Amino acid sequence: MQIFKEKEALQTAVSKLKSEGKTLGLVPTMGALHEGHLSLVTNAEKICDQVVVSIFVNPTQFNNPQDLEKYPRGLQKDLDLLETVDPDVWVFAPMASELYGEKVVSEKFEFGNLAEVMEGKFRAGHFDGVGTVVKMLFEIIKPHKAFFGQKDFQQLQIIRKLTEDQKLPVEVIGCPILREPNGLARSSRNELLNPNQRESASFIHETLLKSRDLFGTKSVNYITDWVNAQFKDHPVLKLEYFEIAEADTLKKINKKREGQNYRAFIAAYAGEVRLIDNLALN
Ligand code: PAJ
Repeated sequence: MQIFKEKEALQTAVSKLKSEGKTLGLVPTMGALHEGHLSLVTNAEKICDQVVVSIFVNPTQFNNPQDLEKYPRGLQKDLDLLETVDPDVWVFAPMASELYGEKVVSEKFEFGNLAEVMEGKFRAGHFDGVGTVVKMLFEIIKPHKAFFGQKDFQQLQIIRKLTEDQKLPVEVIGCPILREPNGLARSSRNELLNPNQRESASFIHETLLKSRDLFGTKSVNYITDWVNAQFKDHPVLKLEYFEIAEADTLKKINKKREGQNYRAFIAAYAGEVRLIDNLALN
């Protein structure tokens, strides 16, 4: 394992790797690594000669300062976990000043509808922050491929658009969602849940599965009302949104169309902890 804190040292290693004709895969993360992150590394390892994992809690994508403060951190634990899946991995763990310089601010992007719905609506400026840091990472590291989880499906679609719009020469690869045994999507935030919340949070995935069953025969309005009713009196979870959208454009739909792929999306709070999940419906 090699750990880089400075971009220059990493860039030198990348140039050498490329001069040997080898391929580089990037897995961007904010640390607090879990099985979900590790699955991205495993996917990357399969098709790239070298994998670099970035670990950086990006301040510009947090619209809520308490959320940024609460975000779990622990570099040594992350390094130990990475060692178990890829002992040759490179880790890029910069300070904010190394990426941002003096001014820790976001670039403004035109992501259109993709950034206006769901997470974009409820977390102002979030995707500009994500776009800013991912663009920086792509430009500094210049990986051949970059791996992102479908857990953050809206983020994945935004990064696809970012690479296309900015003509960044990297192939973006979406990877499946890893779940806990009870169905809860793995997330660094799960560590913040108490045992009762963690058990109850399986309800999010269960509801998504039931909406997928209903999707065959019922209308979008029917399913949306049904989901809202399920959460209404839930003792632990508070629904923020439920949406059914086209997978490519994330446009909300009223009617299904032949040949189109749809996904259902949920954001819900367990106490102070915000959880998101999604599922392909067809
Ligand atoms: P973070 O939340 O640390 O997630 C890093 C990557 O791991 C993302 O691509 C995310 O979708 C993926 N991931 C998280 N949980 C997963 C799960 N259960 N199964 C599969 N993949 C999962 O997403 C970010 O960081 C940041 O926004 C980042 C892209 C690093 C920019 O700062």
